[in-house]
Amino acid sequence: MLKENTIRIIKSTVPVLEQHGLTITKCFYRNMFAEHPELLHVFNHANQHQERQQMALANAVLAAAKHIDQLSTIVPVVEQIAHKHRSLGVKKEHYPIVGHHLLGAIKEVLGEAATEDILQAWAEAYGIIADVFISVESDLYQQAENQHGGWEGFRPFIVQRKQPEGEQIISLYLVPQDEGTLPAFEPGQYVSVKVEMPEESYTHIRQYSLSHAPDASYYRISVKREEAVEGRPAGKVSMFLHDEVQEGAVLYLSAPAGDFTLKVQDDRPRVWISAGVGITPMISMIEAHSKQAVRPPAVFIHAAADGPSHAFREEVASWQEHTTDAKIYFCYSNPTDMDREEQRYQHEGRIDAEWLQTLLPAESAVYYVCGSAAFMEQMVSDLKELGVQESDICAEYFGPKGSLKLA
Ligand code: HEM
Repeated sequence: MLKENTIRIIKSTVPVLEQHGLTITKCFYRNMFAEHPELLHVFNHANQHQERQQMALANAVLAAAKHIDQLSTIVPVVEQIAHKHRSLGVKKEHYPIVGHHLLGAIKEVLGEAATEDILQAWAEAYGIIADVFISVESDLYQQAENQHGGWEGFRPFIVQRKQPEGEQIISLYLVPQDEGTLPAFEPGQYVSVKVEMPEESYTHIRQYSLSHAPDASYYRISVKREEAVEGRPAGKVSMFLHDEVQEGAVLYLSAPAGDFTLKVQDDRPRVWISAGVGITPMISMIEAHSKQAVRPPAVFIHAAADGPSHAFREEVASWQEHTTDAKIYFCYSNPTDMDREEQRYQHEGRIDAEWLQTLLPAESAVYYVCGSAAFMEQMVSDLKELGVQESDICAEYFGPKGSLKLA
């Protein structure tokens, strides 16, 4: 337990560190990678360039520090991050490295303002925060290892099939090279995929949702083609998987992880709202939902640009054949003539509160939302405006949770 004086120092220095948060974490990453270049194999370089991971780490440490005297309140957020850490292979022995360089960066950026008392207090606080993460992650490692067919680290998988899903998304069907058992996973979970690309000095790891129900003899991931657009370079791993990886290739996967999962025990109505490639974890959830003998009412709402880019359209339609009690709505922002002719969608434009209001169940329900950061923000705000409790909204944004909020 921290002394009262240490807690006081931590709380009083959070604002100044928040102010310098980005500079401190940039300095931290620079120094850490200089001393531990092996960690460049683990961190996402695109996130580094776009300052997303820097923000995520800075925010998380500061948010945890704000709650240093009541750390139990941060456990749900720690769990979400811990799933990602476990999936990436972050280990107990990495924490002192991060701690050492974080403290070093605080000292370097704050200069004389970082007194011995302040540095000592932050060292103690970091130790306590790190222990919470290490303990949650150790349980997750244990669970992954104990599961039938489970494994630690990265396991080689063969690309058995590569299939386009609309204009921009491909599905890869992956089977373990060792022909061993695959552990079940919770609908909505993701895997980390590690790739080695020619002419790249470091391996790259990315997370992809499993886009099918958890009872197959393969794992399927579905990847969007991330072309370069103004202000954002092309997604290296996405382009590599689309253009270079063919059937028969080997990819390395860590065991399924993630806490954005279907609450199978909750018998309230289920509402899924997704956009674009955000449909992938939803496919896993709705397939699992349709296989439940007794299931609550369900509403599935998906936004796409148009019919040609709309992935899994047929799969969702066939899902409805088995699940006639489910209601399905598609929203196209830019429908083609053919989309109009064939009435492939129910709403034109964007999903908005007015339209949502006509679709949502009147009673309390569980909401699953997945898409880009902007889409998520809009949906969560619309749902709240319509009277949905924040605690009933489960949201998964693809990318580091840079704006992680604890309170
Ligand atoms: C991701 C916080 C320690 C490696 C993250 C994220 C947060 C975070 C908030 C984003 C999570 C998400 O996107 O879902 C922290 C905190 C730590 C800590 C508060 C210490 C108390 C570590 C350590 C390592 C590590 C010790 C290993 C050296 C990573 C990596 C990612 C990550 C590789 C994913 C990065 C990316 O995709 O850009 N961490 N972390 N973290 N963390 Fe940590």
